[in-house]
Amino acid sequence: MEDIQKLQKKILSWYKKNGRDLPWRKTKNPYRILVSEVMLQQTQVGRVFEKYREFLKQFPTVMSLAKAQTSDVITAWKGLGYNRRALFLQRTAQEVVEKYKGRFPRDLTTLKTLPGVGDYTARAILSFAYDGQVPMMDTNHRKFYQRVLFGRTPRTDKKLLGIASDILPKNRAYYWNQALMDLGQYVCTEKRPGCRLPWLAEVCKACAGVGRPKKVIKKKVVKFRNTDRYYRGRIVDALREKGVLAPAEIKKVCSDISFERMKKITQKLEDDGLIKRRKKRIVLP
Ligand code: ADE
Repeated sequence: MEDIQKLQKKILSWYKKNGRDLPWRKTKNPYRILVSEVMLQQTQVGRVFEKYREFLKQFPTVMSLAKAQTSDVITAWKGLGYNRRALFLQRTAQEVVEKYKGRFPRDLTTLKTLPGVGDYTARAILSFAYDGQVPMMDTNHRKFYQRVLFGRTPRTDKKLLGIASDILPKNRAYYWNQALMDLGQYVCTEKRPGCRLPWLAEVCKACAGVGRPKKVIKKKVVKFRNTDRYYRGRIVDALREKGVLAPAEIKKVCSDISFERMKKITQKLEDDGLIKRRKKRIVLP
């Protein structure tokens, strides 16, 4: 216990000195926190900076996003990839306005019922907007709990979250959760686990060589240009630019795949709500 308290103190003071100055760390507004977290889900911090600012300029409140034309939201998402995130974000805004009078729920279970809001994002909203005393588990938190507490023997997220709850510093969840993100990103890297910080290396099980990793089965790498996602992105990008695509233009965008595959991809885009048909043409919704 004493060790844990010492570690908590070290980490919190490390963060005070070294924590990154990020725009979404200057707000407690749950809508703004949600926008940042959804953008950061699959896009790197450097790319999110400018998009975050622009998006909030265009849609400054949950109400403005809820009421916006969906095609405008998809267009604003340009450059971030995974366009469905933009749809989910708007659907969440609509639900918050319609069901909760524009105020975000304050409990984990209800937050997780919102479109596109999983356990991680719900905890981020609680912790970063409402100062909820909950741990969270993105890749950086996972890396920290896993390595420092269990060395190289893999543990499930459920187990890690349980331990994380036990060692959360009292009333400091906000700083703790942000700190572990930065530690995981910059200190505890794949090649150099936290050993650069002597006080961390001293207590880190991975540094002490504890445990054995599970054998990693390497997945076959598929080239991005061969994936459906690549073509989905191309179609939506072309629509952002032109507004409407005729069948011949869709074919042009998908010129290196079969007609059947192109049909399947556009059908899926329509089912997801990312495009609409207008006679034989397609448009953004
Ligand atoms: N990635 C996801 N959430 C983040 C945050 N709050 N700060 C930095 N990187 C993040």
